[in-house]
Amino acid sequence: MLARLASASLRGLEAEAVDVEVDLSRGMPSWSLVGLPDAAVREARDRVRAALLNSNFEFPLRHITVNLAPADKRKDGSHFDLPVAVGLLLASAQIYVENQSVIPFLVGEMALDGRLNPVSGVLPLTIFAQSQGIQQIIVPLGNAEEAAVVQGIEVIAASNLLEVAAHLQGQRTLMPFEPSETTSETEENMLDLKDVRGQHQARRALEIVAAGGHHELMSGPPGSGKSMLASRLPSILPPLTDTQRLAVARVYSIAGEANTRSPMSSVPPFRAPHHSASDVAMIGGGQIPKPGEVTKSLHGCLFLDEIPEFKRPVLEVLRQPLESGTVSIARAADTLTFPAEFQLIGAMNPCPCGYLGHPTKPCRCSQTQVSRYVGRISGPLLDRFDIRIHVPPVEHDELTNMQAGESSAEVRKRVIQARNIQYTRQGEGIVNARLLPTALEKHAKPDEEGSNLLTTALNRFGLSARSYHRILKVARTIADLVGEPKVQAAHIAEALQYRGDSE
Ligand SMILES: Nc1ncnc2c1ncn2[C@@H]1O[C@H](COP(=O)(O)OP(=O)(O)OP(=O)(O)O)[C@@H](O)[C@H]1O
Ligand SMILES: [Mg+2]
Repeated sequence: MLARLASASLRGLEAEAVDVEVDLSRGMPSWSLVGLPDAAVREARDRVRAALLNSNFEFPLRHITVNLAPADKRKDGSHFDLPVAVGLLLASAQIYVENQSVIPFLVGEMALDGRLNPVSGVLPLTIFAQSQGIQQIIVPLGNAEEAAVVQGIEVIAASNLLEVAAHLQGQRTLMPFEPSETTSETEENMLDLKDVRGQHQARRALEIVAAGGHHELMSGPPGSGKSMLASRLPSILPPLTDTQRLAVARVYSIAGEANTRSPMSSVPPFRAPHHSASDVAMIGGGQIPKPGEVTKSLHGCLFLDEIPEFKRPVLEVLRQPLESGTVSIARAADTLTFPAEFQLIGAMNPCPCGYLGHPTKPCRCSQTQVSRYVGRISGPLLDRFDIRIHVPPVEHDELTNMQAGESSAEVRKRVIQARNIQYTRQGEGIVNARLLPTALEKHAKPDEEGSNLLTTALNRFGLSARSYHRILKVARTIADLVGEPKVQAAHIAEALQYRGDSE
């Protein structure tokens, strides 16, 4: 007897069609699994056998062949357990389904007692099933919320193999899963910029960073509010569009972290990996390639606090995604590409003790210590930061006396306006930070006074061609924030303040 079920395997963020074929034939009892399964798929044999027996089914003492077709593609993941188990039950006539062509799409890992455990990648698998015109998908209970985001396919949440078998035979039909109403993450529980007292320049820089999609490096003594400011960037970024939201949800589904972030949330992601993070954690990888921090920050913010403490190779691997907006992960046989468009925000102390340039506290570091510390960030990486500012300490009395700052909602209105201007001028989704030199010459050409100022600054500070472009980009964003079509001297002057002291 032969049973055939539709399934899919994951490759990067996409799902590709796989047929699960189960054949029982005479001969010595044995079980072979063919079709380039990876380790997790091969282990399906042991899990499925135990799950069948513990669910009071028989394990067929026949020659069993499970083929995952097409045979030339690698199959990753443990979500094949359920289709394999159901295929075995069908092939051994332990369950009977009248029309095998309408069997739902089945996804799930099996525990030894027949329970269904959640798996990663359910969102792309559901989107795939829906695109194939399949009417119904059965997923483990723990994955139902994630699958239910997809329109046009009925999601059935099952907790064990017996339930699935009863449902398929029409003995006890499971009801379609209804997603809970409160899936959308509200902006209410986001950190708000109004908590930040004083720090006018740093707040202003953050607004420019949000508006133009720039990368920012903040340097300042401990406790000056750098982490506080960075973690509030998502609250002033424009909400994710529907396409972006789905792309981010796919990433979290593949990463197996769908429960940490609602798939309905339009809040841009904010990731702050610890400085002990490895390069695999940062860019992604592993035996079954999982997205790294650069991909989990998609359309949001990657915050590297204490950036000089990160391992040099970990920082260097950031250069490619920063340039291209994607990250390539080499595997044994091929290369996978994950999206990696994010804004990089770095924070650091100016020296190992943290107090260099502090108005009252003395710095205890030697000149060598300071340059070694600052030198941990390579020139090319430093060059990627359009905006570099110093965040001075806020005095205690300032903290208590000063009024609450402007709220994120107010700032975000201006950011959205400035973004819309950029998209109209440069094309949908193209922010100033991503403008190439030729486009920059066209869209950010300053007026005469601005040009003169820029030339004077170039000569006085000896700025490189790269810094010149960086200043133009930032000035363009500053002009967009006030809806000014032409970049003027005042915008250039302000942009010059954010160029950092290293040049
Ligand atoms: N401008 C500010 N307004 C209100 N509170 C502030 C401000 N700056 C700092 N604080 C308070 O100080 C705490 C420490 O700030 P934060 O962690 O952002 O400092 P930091 O600059 O990141 O320091 P470090 O260099 O040690 O990482 C905040 O949690 C907040 O309570
Ligand atoms: Mg900090």
